Formats: sequence, C-alpha cells, structure tokens
Amino acid sequence: MNTEYLKIGDISKDRPLIEKAGETLRNGGVVAIPTETVYGLAANALDETAVKKIFAAKGRPADNPLIVHVSGAEDVAALVERIDPRFPALAEKFWPGPLTVIMKKSALVPDVTSGGLDTVAVRCPSHPVAHAIIEAAGVPLAAPSANISGKPSPTKAEHVLADMQGRIDMIADGGSCEIGVESTVITLAENPPRLLRPGGVTPGMLKELLPDLVTDKSVFSALEKGAKAASPGMKYKHYSPSAEVVLLKGTLENAVKYVNRHGGEGCAVLCYEGEAQKFNVPAFEYGRENDMLSLAHGVFDALRKLDSGFTRAYVRTPEPEGVGLAVYNRLLRSAAFRVADADNPIEVIGLTGPTGAGKSTVSKYFKDNGYYIIDGDLLAREAVKSGTVLRALAEEYGADIINEDGSLDRRKTADRAFASPEKTKRLNEITHPAICALTSMEIAKAQSENARGAVIDAAALLECPPILALCDKLACVIAPAEERLQRITVRDSITEEQAKRRISAQHPDDYYISRTDYTIHNGINDDFRPDADKVIAGERNK
Ligand code: TXA
Ligand code: MG
Repeated sequence: MNTEYLKIGDISKDRPLIEKAGETLRNGGVVAIPTETVYGLAANALDETAVKKIFAAKGRPADNPLIVHVSGAEDVAALVERIDPRFPALAEKFWPGPLTVIMKKSALVPDVTSGGLDTVAVRCPSHPVAHAIIEAAGVPLAAPSANISGKPSPTKAEHVLADMQGRIDMIADGGSCEIGVESTVITLAENPPRLLRPGGVTPGMLKELLPDLVTDKSVFSALEKGAKAASPGMKYKHYSPSAEVVLLKGTLENAVKYVNRHGGEGCAVLCYEGEAQKFNVPAFEYGRENDMLSLAHGVFDALRKLDSGFTRAYVRTPEPEGVGLAVYNRLLRSAAFRVADADNPIEVIGLTGPTGAGKSTVSKYFKDNGYYIIDGDLLAREAVKSGTVLRALAEEYGADIINEDGSLDRRKTADRAFASPEKTKRLNEITHPAICALTSMEIAKAQSENARGAVIDAAALLECPPILALCDKLACVIAPAEERLQRITVRDSITEEQAKRRISAQHPDDYYISRTDYTIHNGINDDFRPDADKVIAGERNK
C-alpha cells in the first residue's frame, strides 16, 4: 500500500489536505493523525471494516479496545448508553484535552471498536489538526497510538513513518506532539471511578471533581498471573524499544557509579539535561530533571533512539507524582518492571567452586534465605543465542559452527576455541560482554523483586573478570575430591573413569580458596550452613 504523506502546518491554509484526510476516513481508510498527546491511527469508529484495518496495521490483539475521538462533548451522547452524571463537569473542565473517559457503550459502537467490552472510551483531543480532521471526517474516529503494538508511542511523524509506512493510507504530519505521553484514562463505568492510565491530566487535578477516584493497581505493578485487566492494554508488553530497559532511581552521582559498573558494550543511558557527559556510555538527555512536562514530552522519542543498535539502557526516572506518574508508568512498562536503586544497590554474591562440590545445594540455601539466584552457566548459554555474538563467533571460528537451525554447535566451537590460549581469549572477549549484560539485567530484576541480595552461581566465575566486577562478595564451595567424584558419577550418570577425568581437568581447591573471600565447606561430614551464614553476615573466614 502506498502511504500518502501530508504535511499540515496551518489548518486554514492547508484546508484541502484536511478535507482529503477527512474524505479518506469517511471512505473507510486509515489515517495517522497528530494529537496533543501522541500520534493516533484513526479510522471511522462506527465502521467495523475500517476499524479492523487499524488492528491489522498495528498488529494489535483484538481484545484491546480503542479510544473513540470526538470533536466535542455533544458527540458523546450517541456513543454511550447514558451520560454519566459526573461526565459533563469533567468534559467542561478538561476537554478538549488529554482525558479519556470510559462509560457503558451504546449499540452504535461496534464490538470490534470496544474490543468486545460493553464500555467505550471517549476523548476529545485539543490538537487543532486532530480537531479539524475529526470535523472533516464527520464521524467519530477510533484511534490508538500509531505505533506497532508493543513499541513506544509515536510523538513525531517520523516515528509513525518508521512503524506504519506501507501499512496505512495516509500520515498527516502536524509536527511534534506537545504532551508526549498518551491521555489519562479513567472509567466511570464502575464505582468508585478508577484511574486506569495516568497522563497529562493528573490524579490531583481529577480529585476536585472525582474525590473518590482510585488508582488501578496496574499503574504501578505487573498484572498478577490469572488476574483480569481493568484495561486490556495493561496485559500486553508495552512501550518497548528493541533494547532491554532498566529504570534507575537515585542521585546523579550514584547513577553514574552504577552505570560505570554495570554499563559496557551495547549499553546506553537516558538521562536529564546537562548530564550526558558524566556517563561513560552513550547518553541521551530526554528532559529537565524537575520539569515533568519536559520529561513527558521527550520520553518516547528517547526510547526510540535506543533502536539505533543498543541492546540495553538505564533510564534516570522521575518520582511518580503529578505528570511524573505518567512518565514513570510508561518507563516502568518499557522496562518490564525492572527498577534498580543506585542509592541502595542490591548486594551481589559470586558463588563458584569445582564440579560436584555442591554449589546448587548452597545456592538453594541462599534462595531459602531470600536471595535471588542468577544461574551464570545458563546465562552463558543464553548469551550465545544473540545474533551479534553468533556472528562474531562465526567470524572467529568458521561459519560451520552455526547449525542449520541458526543455533551454535557448542562442541565444535569448544574444540576450536580451546585449541590455543589465544583462541580461548577471543572466545572470552566475544562472549563475556554479552554474559555480563544479561547478568546486570538479572541483578536489576533481583532488586525489583525486593530480594535480600543476588547470588551469581557460576562454575567459570573466576575466569570472567567483568562478572567478578559486579560482585560485592566472592565465595567458593569446596568438598573432598573423592566425595565430588561420587556425586558427579551419580548426578551425571557417568563412569568413575569419566568422572575422574572431569575432575582432574579442573582447578585444585586452592585456586578457588585463594581467589575468594569466603570458603564454604560442603563435604559429607560438614554442615555448610554456618559457612554460608558467614557470607551473609559478612564475616570473612580467611
Ligand atoms: O492519548 C491517547 O489516548 C492516544 C491518542 C492517539 O489519542 N491514544 C491512545 O490509544 O493511547 P491506545 O489505544 O494506544 O491506548 C488506549 C488504552 C489501552 O490501554 C486500552 O486498553 C484502554 O485505553 N481502553 C480503551 N477502551 C477501553 C475500555 N472500554 N475499557 C478499558 N480500557 C480501555
Ligand atoms: Mg498505545
């Protein structure tokens, strides 16, 4: 499909363009329109076929309802079963503007538009171009944000082009969206009224008219497994750039320290004005620290900047108050609820030891004591699934180390990588940054889940300096060789010969003991718990 691009600067001068967009919409087409919040993907809300085109263009799940955009409060009566008595005052105060109100729908609104719900969300945008296009279309317009489902919402026509070119009839470019985060969504279809999505109209502003307004749990937290979403949109992955995002709380000074420790290849930072120079990774400023409107305006554009090749990013995050609540809510979702606190970073314990010494048993003890366990060996396997790592490995060791299904032939890679010390060094140079990045993400997740600390359980920990740098304490688990021999023969169902060979290929106990702060003795006659407790308490035993 050819997507026509209309640049609309002035609604009176560009009248013919407005009429053209209106006509396309009247005829069942899909047009991206600018609003004061974000760009919307508009179609006739009362025309099922037209609305289905929106879902197709976005790749949006059919049960996620659309907001119906009107040109004034007087257009709402036809769309709802009955006007809620609290609605007129809300419209009077906040319309046109970034407030969406949900009420029971009338039969006029097709089920496709309401995602099968018996309610409808209505909003009257204040952007002059949006307003003019709704009037020119002469029908209410269903319009979700004009991004591919799951991506950050578009606040500039170029964002819409990136996501929608070739998928829709037309893009009306009305410049950059002033507010930058989507409208506040409240429902009057239940009592007490509920805030489903924070936006430019803040809870404080609403409370004057809706003193009993409550905030839906989904504003601050992930939906619990099996729970029903008050707003279906909250079920889905949201606002996600291709990079993995972590919110970073804390002072600038501590944020810089945190990023210096956790950053590295592929990492970027989103920060406040005047801060970019302080970080040792690429940093994008998205607004002024105590100016929530500026942060709202810049946040989605900044998230989209990460799509230029970054794999992860730490984001300086405002307090969830006023318009800051909307910014925080969007960032929280883009980060899949990972929040790290640079002022009080979580303690990280590195746990290692030779095979068969019982690291897993000790790990389980830490877990039972409130620690979050990071399986380093698993992350090492995960890291070689990334395209960049696979490409680098293929370049180093030959294209035939990649299997037909695109996965890594681990044995072949190991044979070649361990053929010489130089080759092994290259393996580490390629894989360690990726393993480290995954580990940092897990550490942030551990903190988000309020774990007491994080334990990195990894056999090869001591051979991975960048991971060692993430650890606050290092502990090893050791056990007598003959007991380890017995354990691994049973555990891995191998012969005693094989087990012996495996053990002799490993470092002696002293290698682990001399390179760690704590030793946990885990022989058959030992009780390892007092040693593990010393790690927790910080009582070094050497
Ligand atoms: O600012 C905005 O609201 C933008 C511009 C284009 O107007 N639109 C927008 O639409 O953000 P969308 O579809 O991206 O987000 C609408 C949210 C979704 O989370 C959806 O689930 C929720 O509102 N929603 C819509 N109708 C609903 C209903 N009847 N009941 C509950 N939630 C509803
Ligand atoms: Mg959206």
